[in-house]
Amino acid sequence: MRISVIGCGYLGAVHAAAMAELGHEVVGIDVDPGKIAALTRGEAPFFEPGLPELLQSHVATGRLRFSTDMAEAAGSTVHFIAVGTPQVRGGTAADLTFVDSAIDSLLPYTNPGDVIAGKSTVPVGTATRLAEKMGDSGAVIAWNPEFLREGWAVKDSLTPDRLVFGLPPEPADAATADAALREAYAPVLALDTPLIVTDFATAELVKVSANAFLATKISFINAMAEIAEVTGADVVQLAEAIGHDDRIGKRFLGAGVGFGGGCLPKDIRAFTARAEELGRGESVMFLKEVDAINLRRRQRVVDHVVDALEGEPHDKVVAVLGLAFKPHSDDVRDSPALDVAVRLKGLGADVRVTDPAAIENARARHPQLDYRESFEDTVRDAEVVVLVTEWDEYRHLDPSEVLPLVARPNIVDARNSFDPAQWRAAGWTYRGLGRR
Ligand code: UDX
Repeated sequence: MRISVIGCGYLGAVHAAAMAELGHEVVGIDVDPGKIAALTRGEAPFFEPGLPELLQSHVATGRLRFSTDMAEAAGSTVHFIAVGTPQVRGGTAADLTFVDSAIDSLLPYTNPGDVIAGKSTVPVGTATRLAEKMGDSGAVIAWNPEFLREGWAVKDSLTPDRLVFGLPPEPADAATADAALREAYAPVLALDTPLIVTDFATAELVKVSANAFLATKISFINAMAEIAEVTGADVVQLAEAIGHDDRIGKRFLGAGVGFGGGCLPKDIRAFTARAEELGRGESVMFLKEVDAINLRRRQRVVDHVVDALEGEPHDKVVAVLGLAFKPHSDDVRDSPALDVAVRLKGLGADVRVTDPAAIENARARHPQLDYRESFEDTVRDAEVVVLVTEWDEYRHLDPSEVLPLVARPNIVDARNSFDPAQWRAAGWTYRGLGRR
């Protein structure tokens, strides 16, 4: 099948490579010449395990191409829309400028019967609006949300938990879209991957409600951490104990500094804004609390550091381990780690930061921070060490090996990744979130 993917960011670049891996002839299109040049060389423009290998193997065979020229989309049967939908400036809604401009510039190159499959996360109602905009072009729109996680994007694309096809209301258009998407995903469906065939609104809502649920689960356990902090309970044991109940489950009950990244924070805000537009703001009012709990945890980490410094952070050396919003990613969008580092710097601390993958992205946003390439350089002479992104190399630190490097043995474990007993036994003052 000939396939185009419009937008080659985290979502589109991985999707294009995955479609080539599934056997299709794929062109990825993006307005950013730098990104296209890197992808054409078989280089991933961001850190994503497994992606460079996939790009190299399919760019080499010619089955995967990249271009800045939308005309290259002509001749494809399915056009996936994978552009970003960031938070609008000065508001909480999703900015659909890139989705609209992708459709506008793609339409002149489509043929009747082509399928435009939206993958971007959009407010419910968007596909219907776009279908109207497409007028009598003869192309058919479908919504096919994507659930990939950064760091596991290749695996999530090739072997997803489920596929969702949101089809148009007219039966003939629905049949066209359904057939094209089944052909595009044939190798995935052959693995007995669950498929939910539905309407536009449900498909759009599946994505935002899944992210809202995940965000709520994290904020739930972080709210329990707040209660644990005033009662002397331990939230890690609490999460383990409730997680044994299959109905609750252990995943996404990791209490700590909370969620960040390019999806969960902006998606819950955009969902709230859309629900308010629809006159149903009260239905998802709790998402404002989910957001507020999440942001409070960042300040809690800062408070722990200030407490360790007896209320006097000015000029004190603080080592921050981690900048990415989570491990296995170089993404610093809405990163709790970067936020904590910037807040501490704002209090006058001498903040030294490091990360295995995200230094360059963090520096571009916050050049005022003191970036260190090596772990030793970061923690040397520190009065407090803060673990904010739980990369394996930090999780497995030996506290007695770190001890001689620092000025004072204060550890703030913002991800509850360490064994407090082990760090205390090695002579450290340990502070976790919601832990004794
Ligand atoms: C998320 C969704 O998981 C994915 O399905 C969707 O397509 C995009 O958004 P991603 O942003 O890559 O994916 O990150 P995810 O692994 O979900 O983690 C989100 C944030 O939650 C991270 O900052 C992570 O550190 C935090 N988190 C996760 C916790 O604080 N506690 C947990 O228990 C789990």
